[in-house]
Amino acid sequence: MPKRPLVVRTLAALRRALHPYRGTTALVPTMGALHHGHLALVREAQRRAPRVVVSIFVNPTQFAPHEDFGSYPRRFETDIAALSEAKVDLVWAPSAAVMYPEGFATRVAPQGAALAGLEDKFRPHFFGGVATVVAKLFTQVTPDYALFGQKDYQQLRVVTQMAKDLDLPVKVVGLPTVREKDGLALSSRNLYLSEEERRRAPVLYRVLKAAAARIKAGEPIEMVLEEGRAEIARADFALDYLEARHALTLAPVASRKNGPLRLLVAAKIGKTRLIDNIGV
Ligand code: PAJ
Repeated sequence: MPKRPLVVRTLAALRRALHPYRGTTALVPTMGALHHGHLALVREAQRRAPRVVVSIFVNPTQFAPHEDFGSYPRRFETDIAALSEAKVDLVWAPSAAVMYPEGFATRVAPQGAALAGLEDKFRPHFFGGVATVVAKLFTQVTPDYALFGQKDYQQLRVVTQMAKDLDLPVKVVGLPTVREKDGLALSSRNLYLSEEERRRAPVLYRVLKAAAARIKAGEPIEMVLEEGRAEIARADFALDYLEARHALTLAPVASRKNGPLRLLVAAKIGKTRLIDNIGV
C-alpha cells in the first residue's frame, strides 16, 4: 500500500506541516476530481521541488449562482489514492469556512488579460474568484513554484500577471494541455458528458488544429475563424467564442505579424461547457 499523504484542514496545521519545507516547495492548485492533466502538473512539480503540495478546494467564489458549484464532482478519497500513488507529500484541503471565514471582505480584482472579453464575458465573476483564491493559496502555502495548465489559458495569464503585480515570491509555470487520444482536452467536467456528447466533443480540438495550420499558412484569420465557428455550430455546440488573440496579452490581433497567437474556444455541448486553446 502506498503511504497516505498527510491531509491538513486548518491554517495552523498547514503552517506546522510546512515549516521544515520552506524554500523548497511547489504547489499544484486544483478543485479535485483529479485526472492525468492534474497528475502531469504534479510530476512537473516533483521535478522542480523536493516538496509538493496539492490543494483541493472547490472554490465557491469562482462559480456564479446558476453554475455547477453544487454538482461539481467531488471525489476526495479517489483523489487521495491517486496522490498517494504519485507520492505527494501534502494535500491542503481547507473547508470554505477556513478559506473564507465569517467577515471575509477582500477580493483581488485582476484586470488586463482578465478583461480580454473571453471567459470573462461569459463568466464575469470567474477571474475575481480565481485570483482571490490563488492569492490566498500562495500566501498560505508560500510555494517557490506554482504549476498551472495551459488548458485554462486565460487563467494562466491572469495568475501569472497577478503574481508579478503583487510581487508574490513564486514562479508560475504553465504546462501543455494533456489530451485524450482523440484530442479532447482532459477536464473534470468531461465527467458530465453523455456517451453521445463525448463522441462529438473532440470537434473543438479538431477545429483549433485545422485553424492554426491554416493561419500559419497565411490564410486570413477572420475567414478561418468564421469557418471554424460554422463547423462547431454544425456539430450542435452552442458556441460562446472562437477567437485569435495575442498569446501574452490576449488582446485582439489583426494579423499573424502582431505577435505570437493563441486560438481560444468555449462552447456548450448539451449542458456541459467546454474550453480549449492552442498556439499558432
Ligand atoms: P482545476 O480545474 O481543478 O484545474 C487545476 C489545474 O489543472 C489548472 O491549472 C488547470 O489548468 C490544470 N488542468 C486542467 N485540465 C488540464 C489538462 N487537460 N492538461 C493540463 N492541465 C490541466 O483551474 C482550477 O482548478 C481552479 O480555477 C483553481 C486554479 C484551482 C482555482 O480555484
